[in-house]
Formats: sequence, C-alpha cells, structure tokens
Amino acid sequence: MKVDAVAVAPLDLAAGTEILLASQKQGFPWLSANLLDPKGQPLFEPVRIKKVGAVKVGLIGLTGQLNSPPSGVRQADWRTLLPALIEKTARQCDILVLLSSLPPAENQEIARQFPAIHLILAANLDSGNMNPQQINNSLITQTDRQGKYQGVLTIDWNKNGKWGNSKEEELNTLRNRLGALNQQLQRMRKQADPQQPEYLAKVKVIEENRETVAQQIKDIELKGVVTGNGQNSTSEMSSFSFNFIPLKQSLPEAPDIRAIITGIKQQINEQNRKVTKKEESLPFLGHDGCKSCHPAQTKFWQSTNHSRAWETLQKANQAFNLECLPCHVISSSEIPVNRNQLLALPKSLQTVGCENCHVGPGKSHAANPEQFHMKKQVEEKICLSCHTPQHDNHFSYQEKMKRIACPAN
Ligand code: HEC
Ligand code: HEC
Ligand code: HEC
Ligand code: HEC
Repeated sequence: MKVDAVAVAPLDLAAGTEILLASQKQGFPWLSANLLDPKGQPLFEPVRIKKVGAVKVGLIGLTGQLNSPPSGVRQADWRTLLPALIEKTARQCDILVLLSSLPPAENQEIARQFPAIHLILAANLDSGNMNPQQINNSLITQTDRQGKYQGVLTIDWNKNGKWGNSKEEELNTLRNRLGALNQQLQRMRKQADPQQPEYLAKVKVIEENRETVAQQIKDIELKGVVTGNGQNSTSEMSSFSFNFIPLKQSLPEAPDIRAIITGIKQQINEQNRKVTKKEESLPFLGHDGCKSCHPAQTKFWQSTNHSRAWETLQKANQAFNLECLPCHVISSSEIPVNRNQLLALPKSLQTVGCENCHVGPGKSHAANPEQFHMKKQVEEKICLSCHTPQHDNHFSYQEKMKRIACPAN
C-alpha cells in the first residue's frame, strides 16, 4: 500500500513480535516509541521524519496499553519518554504528527500537555470515524476500524504552526448565524407599526449584517478563504478539510487476498472447534421443549431461516467463529452467555430460537405455564440487537415482522 508509517497497535502484536520485526527488516515502516526490548532499547523506530514537498513531517508512534505483552517486550509509559522525544523531534520538523492507539482520554491529555504536537491520528476500536477536534494546539481524528473508510485530511500548513478554524466549522457557524438573522427579520416584520423610524433603523442593521454574513459564506465556498469577523490573521493560520470515503461493496474483490482471509477464518474456526468441550448446561430450554404445547408456532418457526441460522454459519465454515456466533444462536439480554458456552451449545440451542424473541429463559414457563409467563410481543429493540445496520441494512420492523411472527393457534 506504500505507507509512510504505521504505528504498532495492540492487535498487531496478536501473533507476537517476530512477524513485525521481520517485515521491519524488509523495510516496512513500523513505529513505536514505547515498546522496548529487555535492555530498554526501542524495538521499533520511535520516530520518522518524512519530507513532503517543502514540509518536513515528523511522525511519532505510540502503542496502546498491552494487557499481556509478548515475551521480550516491555511497555514504557509515554509520560516518561514523550517530553524528551518531542523536544528533539520538534526541532527537526515543521509539523509533528502522533500516531497513537492510546485510549481517547490519554490522547487528549497529550494534546493538552504538548502543544508541539499538531496532529494526533488515533486508532480506537470503538470511536468510529471521528471528525477532527481541536484540543489546545492539536487536532485529534481517526477513521473507523477494519479499513471500512479511507480518511482524507487535506492540510494547508503554515509554518507558524497554529490551526485556524476549519472551513467546515467556519461555514457551519456562518450558516447558523445567517439562519438566526433571517429568523430575527421574520419576527420583526410581524411586529406592529412598521413605519416607526426606530424599527426601520433596526431592520436596516440586521439586513446589513445578513449581507455581510452571506458574502463571507460565498467567499469561503468560492475561494476557500476565511475572511472578516476580526480574524484577519487567518491567512497565517493553517487550515484543513476532511472527508471519510466509505469502502464500497461494489468494489471488486482481490481473489488472492480473499483466499488468505478465507484460509485464516477457517483456521480460527478449526482451532475453536478443537477446544470445544462437552455441552454446557444453560437455563434455556430450546425449541424441542416448546413443541409439545405450541406445535403450530414451532412448525411455523421451523419454516423461517431463524431456525437455520447456525447451519448458515456451518456452510460458511464459521460455526465456531466467536465473532459470528452471538447473532446466529440462542441469546438473551438477561442471560450472559460466555465464549465457552457459545462454543459448546446443545443442538437445540444452536439456532435463533423461541427464547431469543419471547425473552426467556423458558424452563420455568414450560414447567408451570400458568405461573411463569413468556412475553408474547417482541419489541423492535430485540430484533435490532442482531439486525444491526452492518448485518442488515434493509431492516424494517413492520415489514420483517410479517415474515417471522408466529401465527395464533
Ligand atoms: C407444558 C406446556 C407448555 C410448554 C412446554 C411451553 N408453553 Fe408456552 N404456553 C403454555 C400455555 C398453557 C400458555 C398460555 C398461558 C396463559 O395464557 O396464561 C402459554 C403461553 C405462551 C406464550 C404466549 C404468552 C401470551 O401472553 O399469550 C408464549 C410466547 C409462549 N408460551 C412461549 C413458549 C416457549 C418459547 C416455550 C419453550 C421455551 C413454551 N412456551 C413452552 C404452555 C406451554
Ligand atoms: C439473535 C439474533 C436475531 C434476533 C434477535 C432476530 N433475528 Fe432475524 N435473523 C437473524 C439471523 C442470523 C438471520 C439470518 C438467518 C439465516 O439465513 O441463516 C435472520 C433472518 C431474519 C429474516 C429472514 C427470515 C427468512 O426466513 O428468510 C427476517 C424476516 C428476520 N430475521 C426478522 C427478524 C425480526 C422481525 C426480529 C425481531 C422480532 C428478528 N429477526 C430477531 C438473527 C436474529
Ligand atoms: C450483529 C449480529 C450478527 C453477526 C455478529 C453476524 N451476523 Fe450473519 N446475519 C445477521 C443477520 C441479522 C442476518 C440476516 C440479514 C437479513 O435478513 O438480511 C445475517 C445473515 C447472514 C448470512 C446470510 C444468510 C443468507 O443466506 O442470506 C450469512 C452467510 C451470515 N450472516 C454469516 C455470518 C458470518 C460468517 C458471521 C461472522 C463473520 C456473521 N454472519 C456474523 C446477524 C449477524
Ligand atoms: C424472530 C422472533 C420469534 C421467534 C424466533 C419465535 N417467535 Fe413466537 N412470536 C413472535 C411474534 C412476533 C409473535 C406475535 C406476537 C403478537 O401477536 O404480538 C409470536 C407469537 C407467538 C405465540 C403466541 C401465539 C398466539 O397469538 O397465541 C407463541 C405461543 C409463540 N410465538 C411461540 C413460539 C415458539 C414456541 C417459538 C420457537 C419454536 C417461537 N415462538 C419463535 C416472534 C417469534
């Protein structure tokens, strides 16, 4: 992919350091300032300086918290090593970028402490695409996980090293102001006695303001120049614009990469299948236990694909992939099912079953239906726990209900 720098993140170390060190030898630009060998020397390059046109860009890598560092790896605290590193690097470059998989709070702490860092590219698994936010003198931003988006940040860098407002931000502020002025005018026009000179003067002022704001918006839209409002130092400020480009499903697959991924998924599946122990006992009853008293609903459910959700995984060689299982087998918001249990479910729980929807578990109901009731209605949020936009981008509760709601007796 011709990358200039990649900071080592915790998941990159899942298979140990050897693979990374080998690719580093072949020239892959891994960075990490806080991963050290037993002697306290950095395992990877801490810093890279890359010339882009006339601008020298400094890149520092920091690796997020490792719960159990691989053998031969010590993780240093950034608080002890960053001050000296920044001091040294800042002198050698025009713009300083931190590539960080630290948690959001620590990135913000760094931004507050080190105004010499201009940009923090974060890598938090749960933050999704993050519009650049400025803290102190640093912009912090990131793209969503798993390469689903390409983040494009275009920077017009001015060597005084200060950020002005982004064009987007400036436009938003101006558009809001324009809206407010329009509303004010509308309100005033409804007022009584429009002939009063005082009133006319006020309207005139507002109209002039509106004209100025409209002109400022035009300037930005046409020329990309931020003007007016006393911010005339703007031309010396650095500015940026950003965009997240989604990876489209319509893009063609690379067959060799697809083959690697399929191979790895099958290895994971095989690995998990081997560690699977004997069946775990769970408080769910399973559809077999409902059949005798609710034959009509059971027969109907068997005709839906919910009853075959685990077989679907099996066909894809993914029936032991913990990433897939939670939505393709029994589950309930009320009963946590752990990894081991997910891998060792009895046959009748290896489906999206009755107790997923009728909020079980159903053992006590089956033993004493008059005393313990199952919920008949199924709320939308239950469906949405599995029918997430990522896995079903056509979910409509009303429409899909028609296809899966069990019939009355
Ligand atoms: C021994 C017979 C028996 C078994 C086994 C049984 N049920 Fe029931 N179920 C009943 C009876 C009887 C009612 C009606 C209870 C009532 O209306 O008070 C009922 C009612 C229901 C209702 C509708 C509740 C309502 O408000 O109308 C649902 C949903 C339900 N059962 C689901 C299940 C599920 C799921 C299972 C398996 C986990 C199951 N039942 C097992 C006898 C049984
Ligand atoms: C535990 C996760 C889970 C829950 C809860 C869930 N679904 Fe599903 N649903 C699935 C999966 C997985 C499939 C795909 C099954 C397959 O084809 O293997 C599916 C398939 C479907 C289908 C296609 C069925 C067919 O026969 O073609 C519909 C319609 C549907 N779900 C609607 C709903 C509605 C409505 C709800 C809530 C009332 C709901 N689902 C709750 C996981 C779930
Ligand atoms: C967050 C819940 C969730 C997870 C996790 C999940 N799925 Fe699904 N899956 C669904 C839902 C919901 C559907 C049904 C979508 C629809 O009806 O359009 C589905 C449908 C499918 C289908 C299509 C069935 C068909 O023939 O149309 C396949 C194949 C599938 N999933 C495989 C997987 C695999 C493999 C994984 C793990 C890598 C996985 N799923 C993880 C919820 C999930
Ligand atoms: C995907 C969700 C889903 C699954 C899975 C599911 N049901 Fe239902 N079931 C519904 C919905 C929706 C209704 C209709 C509720 C209503 O009328 O408000 C319903 C209705 C019922 C009723 C009440 C029928 C009546 O009106 O008297 C019973 C009993 C029932 N289901 C039993 C079962 C059993 C047994 C299973 C498993 C074999 C099962 N359901 C699986 C969604 C589900």
